[in-house]
Amino acid sequence: MEQIDLMKEVISLSKQRGFIFQSSEIYGGLKSCYDYGPLGVELKRNVMSEWWRSMVHEREDIVGIDASIIMHTRVWEASGHLAGFSDPLVDCKNCKERFRADKAPRAEPGSEVEVSEGGKKKGKLLKQTVGEGGYVCPVCGSANLSEERSFNLMFRTSLGPVDPLQEVSQALAGQSRSAEEIRKLVDEKLRDSAVYLRPETAQAMFVQFANVQQALALKTPFGIAQMGKSFRNEVTVEHFIFRSCEFEQMEMEYFVEPGTQKEALDHWKSERLNWYLRYVNDKSKFRLRQHDADELAHYADDCYDVEYEYPWGWDELEGIASRTDYDLKKHSEHSGVPLTYFDQEKTNPETGKKGYRYTPYVIEPAAGATRATLMFLLDAFCYDTTRADATGKEKSRRVLKLHPRLSPYKVAVFPLVKREGMPDLAREIVREFFNAGINARYDEQHSIGKRYARHDEVGTPYCLTVDGDSLKDSTVTIRDRDTTKQERVKIDEALSVVKKRLETV
Ligand code: GAP
Repeated sequence: MEQIDLMKEVISLSKQRGFIFQSSEIYGGLKSCYDYGPLGVELKRNVMSEWWRSMVHEREDIVGIDASIIMHTRVWEASGHLAGFSDPLVDCKNCKERFRADKAPRAEPGSEVEVSEGGKKKGKLLKQTVGEGGYVCPVCGSANLSEERSFNLMFRTSLGPVDPLQEVSQALAGQSRSAEEIRKLVDEKLRDSAVYLRPETAQAMFVQFANVQQALALKTPFGIAQMGKSFRNEVTVEHFIFRSCEFEQMEMEYFVEPGTQKEALDHWKSERLNWYLRYVNDKSKFRLRQHDADELAHYADDCYDVEYEYPWGWDELEGIASRTDYDLKKHSEHSGVPLTYFDQEKTNPETGKKGYRYTPYVIEPAAGATRATLMFLLDAFCYDTTRADATGKEKSRRVLKLHPRLSPYKVAVFPLVKREGMPDLAREIVREFFNAGINARYDEQHSIGKRYARHDEVGTPYCLTVDGDSLKDSTVTIRDRDTTKQERVKIDEALSVVKKRLETV
């Protein structure tokens, strides 16, 4: 079979089958914003609840929180996000593209490049010399670039019944000032009421460290987990939901005694990699990559990425950082509230006396729920050339081989025809699945073949068909999405087949 453009296929299936739509599509769409449709919301929630189950419910040492998206501005001062959470931006003077210097194609400083004027295909050819930055424009290849400028990635808004623009206009009315003075004044006036949409979920776990530890009398090593929305005014938004301005994260801060962080990092590296491997078809597309020293964030002494081989190449799926005691110390300094841990059983290594107070070190597995959703779609998508289509003709058909725990519907129940009591029995079976906590879908539209095809495309692992015999002997046919095999079984048995499959992770 000829090579398929996997990204294109997944984006088109996502729209056609109700997984992911462009936000505000009828108004032309909003760049980098997406809406999760009826199937997408189920898939994303399943990804997130699988994460929560393995990170919180199944672990004695981890608890969860759900913090406010807007936090005190001093949180971002202390964490360094207000000052340092910025991208180095560059403008291309040739084609006017704005891009991130650190993501731009590399070139030898001092070497010559040839580009067409204005970035146009038939433009005059120009010779340019690559500057000290050692990169060129990612769009037209030009070396005629502006200086790098910092651009803060946090979304700023204002809190409270204030109108900061009114204050700014009053302060400026009737005065003549330079552009720089105006900018400074506007910034000052906005700052008083400014709040920020969180760019990561992590900070709440540091800020609430003492409350959570004390409320539950937690002993190190222990973790605090959170999932939810984060926002970054990303300059480069790319690859569908891979990098967007509004996204969801699943993060956990694991607090350990100083000196034990390496062991904990090793533990979380393999835990997190194995978590993904349990749900995917192609395990060869995963690897762990250690960060080079110059890639490390300001707070980290080591970091690994779980990388996935996307259609555009290897790229980040999740980061697992050894964040030292940086955040707890910073928040303690800025708030004046001690954020330490006291172990009364332990001997203080410095004094040799019993009782050891320390600032815990932190290991942070930080995953993207929306990015993981994209990865699971890419991993599951395939064409099955052996599958018959709705008319019974052999034809290549789209199948989403999602792990049943991630599948939006676990089972679809069809009446063969819309009469003779079959719809009632089918609905009764659907209710039985609901009673067992399993998401099922009643479906009576189109032929059985088309219904199979539709459910293959959204990853439903099992389809049950209620026919004339079902009413006599309480049996149904159960069809397996992956093998397409059909078997006749008792209704109870069908329930246990689906239940059993859902237990295997
Ligand atoms: N607390 C650390 C932190 O936020 P990060 O590497 O910036 O680290 C963690 O983000 C994960 O969140 C990434 O590995 C990725 O999966 C996801 N992520 C980050 N920025 C994203 C964006 N703009 N769109 C979608 N997912 C994003």
